[in-house]
Amino acid sequence: MNVVFLGPPGAGKGTQAETLSKQRGMEHISTGEVLRGAVDAGTPVGLRARKYMEKGALVPDEVVVDIVAERIGKNGRCKNFLLDGFPRNLNQAKALDKTLSGLKDRLDVVFYFAVSEETAVSRLTGRWICSGCGSNYHQHYMPPRKPGVCDKCGKALQQRPDDKVETVKERLKVYRKQTADLIDYYEKQGLLMKINADRDVKEVYEEVTKALDSLNRER
Ligand code: AP5
Repeated sequence: MNVVFLGPPGAGKGTQAETLSKQRGMEHISTGEVLRGAVDAGTPVGLRARKYMEKGALVPDEVVVDIVAERIGKNGRCKNFLLDGFPRNLNQAKALDKTLSGLKDRLDVVFYFAVSEETAVSRLTGRWICSGCGSNYHQHYMPPRKPGVCDKCGKALQQRPDDKVETVKERLKVYRKQTADLIDYYEKQGLLMKINADRDVKEVYEEVTKALDSLNRER
């Protein structure tokens, strides 16, 4: 299955993608994670991306499109992927269509994680990430056993620099202006499946897996 997770920042895409990709043996491609890795490593891509990410803006398409095309096309082609945070505008969606058609492949489904802005802001401003293994926590919804310390590896938890309130507001603005159009784009292609992401993690996961199972049966 080739799957896209679409939705505003804080909708829970990364949380669901992490579990689903492990459970179903899918390749999880998160452009945000790849870019944060490049920023931390100080690579040329990271140096270029950093100034956009800090402001909550999108990184230029040519940088992100190449990253995704390379991951999907590696070793001939990737057969079972979950794209999280890509595409984020019409240009990226068209570039993805081109990459896939070049590989004689296609998307199977686009899950649109619908969530209120109020929920998104509260999830992002309360998110904590492990500085060691990258595990994801939330101060209220998914707290670690010991405050500030990762349950899995014992390293310190930290806030993502773009999770400060002002940057979160900017990211949501960018989403409304540039990414929300993709809902219509994929709906017209009959690929869109809307998920009510304003519920707890387990309920959202069950809805996604149920939908995937039914798509698998129809194939
Ligand atoms: P990216 O890393 O993709 O961030 P995002 O899309 O803004 O998504 P988030 O990771 O913030 O939210 P999420 O929906 O994954 O929520 P999560 O599961 O973590 O992108 C960051 C930046 O990189 C962009 O701003 C841009 O600059 C650049 N970039 C990336 N891709 C790009 C592209 N294609 N083009 C150009 N630029 C690009 O959950 C959030 C919190 O809520 C967590 O604490 C979690 O524990 C909690 N939570 C999750 N689900 C639930 C739930 N159901 N109930 C309660 N709490 C929950």
